[in-house]
Amino acid sequence: MAQSYSARSRAIEPFHVMALLARANELQASGRDVIHLEIGEPDFTTAAPIVEAGQAALAAGHTRYTAARGLPALREAIAGFYQQRYGLSIDPERILITPGGSGALLLASSLLVDPGKHWLLADPGYPCNRHFLRLVEGGAQLVPVGPEVNYQLTADLVERYWDQDTVGALVASPANPTGTVLERSELASLSAATRAHNGHLVVDEIYHGLTYGMDAASVLEVDDQAFVLNSFSKYFGMTGWRLGWLVAPPAAVSDLEKLAQNLYISAPSMAQHAALACFQPQTLAILEERRAEFGRRRDFLLPALRELGFKIAVEPQGAFYLYADISAFGGDAYAFCQHFLETEHVAFTPGLDFGRYQAGHHVRFAYTQSLSRLQEAVERIARGLRSWQG
Ligand SMILES: Cc1ncc(COP(=O)(O)O)c(C=O)c1O
Repeated sequence: MAQSYSARSRAIEPFHVMALLARANELQASGRDVIHLEIGEPDFTTAAPIVEAGQAALAAGHTRYTAARGLPALREAIAGFYQQRYGLSIDPERILITPGGSGALLLASSLLVDPGKHWLLADPGYPCNRHFLRLVEGGAQLVPVGPEVNYQLTADLVERYWDQDTVGALVASPANPTGTVLERSELASLSAATRAHNGHLVVDEIYHGLTYGMDAASVLEVDDQAFVLNSFSKYFGMTGWRLGWLVAPPAAVSDLEKLAQNLYISAPSMAQHAALACFQPQTLAILEERRAEFGRRRDFLLPALRELGFKIAVEPQGAFYLYADISAFGGDAYAFCQHFLETEHVAFTPGLDFGRYQAGHHVRFAYTQSLSRLQEAVERIARGLRSWQG
């Protein structure tokens, strides 16, 4: 008898870019110089003071579980960071340390979504969100968004799409794949719109810190009942350490703690000890230098791609992505990505990985490569466009 696996696992789509990545690795193994613009993580390795703190933690034997909510010292350090960066006083009791922002998303969706209920999500958006919702037997109501709304949900859209099964809205600021940021007033309107339906507002702030020429507002500035996901992966450059956090309203914390105990017991302890070094001035100075470098890359790549005919309708203010409309060149985005990989050895991600809405003629570039590599990529893309027959 054929083995059968769960319907919920069958409903999860793989990342389409993985097939391209496998091909990129094959090309690389055969000696080709592939430029990776598909990768959604900083190219920098973890900053030295964090690595040293991690090594010291291992040497000191911090290799066991921690409390399910995380190390008290780390929760206090994060609360201190909210004070310093946003002028916000957040009780450390409201902060749970999680395995990545992904762990925070797992907690939030497990807590807030009953079977058959759904959240509103922007399309395009981070694909795992809808998959987490599916895993808890809920779902995503995808709301098509374009440049006219900065690729973000608005209070009007929340109003328009809310139905009897909607229990919340999830937004990301800065967003993946578009890099757009929600202003404080927009966060406040989204908060009011979800509250009006007794729903929850969940805000993914994992690209906070990676904004250029401005700082992103936290939803916690305007709504202390919102759920906030954050992570040490992106700004803090710790993707492989698997560490993030969730800020929740006080009433939700003990239920979340119970879920954390059962789902993963605790976030990795050595990573938590290492992360204590994130908030030291010398570490923040390194991270700010890296932020500036990402800003320089954006300032190079954005006009260079526009010059070539890519339509990037909204200037992204954060993350490290450019989401480009390729309709001027004709053809399908996946084939377009394949063409550039095969002929010019430049890898980037087809829109299909971020949703359905106009996905067939959008691609995402990640500027997680040095400026000189980006320059080389632009030259190759210019050449590849001449041989593209969409
Ligand atoms: C918008 C968004 N949210 C959450 C995550 C999860 O990241 P992590 O689990 O490493 O914190 C990612 C990763 O790329 C992301 O882009």
